[in-house]
Amino acid sequence: MSSAKKEYKRITVKTLVDMKANGEKISMLTAYDYTMAKIVDGAGVDVILVGDSASNVMAGHETTLPITLDQMIYHASSVIRAIDRALIVVDLPFGSYQSDPKEALRSAIRIMKESGAHAVKLEGGKEAKESIKRILNAGIPVMGHLGLTPQSIYKFGTYTVRAKEEEEAQRLKEDAIMLEKIGCFGIVLEKIPAKLAKEVAESVSIPIIGIGAGNGVDGQVLVLHDMLGMTHEFHPRFLRRYLNLYEDMTRAMQQYVADVKNMDFPNDDEQY
Ligand code: KIV
Repeated sequence: MSSAKKEYKRITVKTLVDMKANGEKISMLTAYDYTMAKIVDGAGVDVILVGDSASNVMAGHETTLPITLDQMIYHASSVIRAIDRALIVVDLPFGSYQSDPKEALRSAIRIMKESGAHAVKLEGGKEAKESIKRILNAGIPVMGHLGLTPQSIYKFGTYTVRAKEEEEAQRLKEDAIMLEKIGCFGIVLEKIPAKLAKEVAESVSIPIIGIGAGNGVDGQVLVLHDMLGMTHEFHPRFLRRYLNLYEDMTRAMQQYVADVKNMDFPNDDEQY
């Protein structure tokens, strides 16, 4: 059952800012393909993120770095065809925006034009400021991403909680305020202490969406395959599994194999 306070027919970036102002929490999940996106949208999830986590869960890479702009556009256009209500945010992949603001704008335009997405997300604070401004100036809504930013995994060296030390926490707070000031419509905060995330959420009027950032923020995001229990080897503390699809699907497939081998499938009713 939905706990939404107001029925929104279509979610826009403005809706999200209104939701925060009205104290309504925002739900966000990833999706990368038509069939899953149709279910996610039909279930009433407010925002679908076509995340570069597709690199992990769809393509089997160890990190998010290998996925390309073309591949992100392919995933995003499949998702876009499925949705009636959700806002679709697409990650700018590693290598498509870091070198200069013009390249960042070109990549964002390709995503918007070729997939039909509604907004882009990119990782980074101060270092990404000029690129974000350039994209925003073209009328493209931008969501920021601070804290654990997986595209910098080789700099961090580990997926552990970020901003536990005062210096990094202070930098993160300043980055969040800067992102609001230049015009981002929201920020994802990944894997940081709950107290810090709450402080950030209270210091800006744009929505803060957390993943491993506690419940003092304005909304939550999870990777779809993780929350459905399809990725059974990944169990960080922040992850709540709503299903155990890895086991359920394995059982179904084992049953299918047995039915085929035993000639139980197809039966008389399942043929012409
Ligand atoms: O790519 C992704 O799925 C993300 C979420 C973890 C926020 O960026």
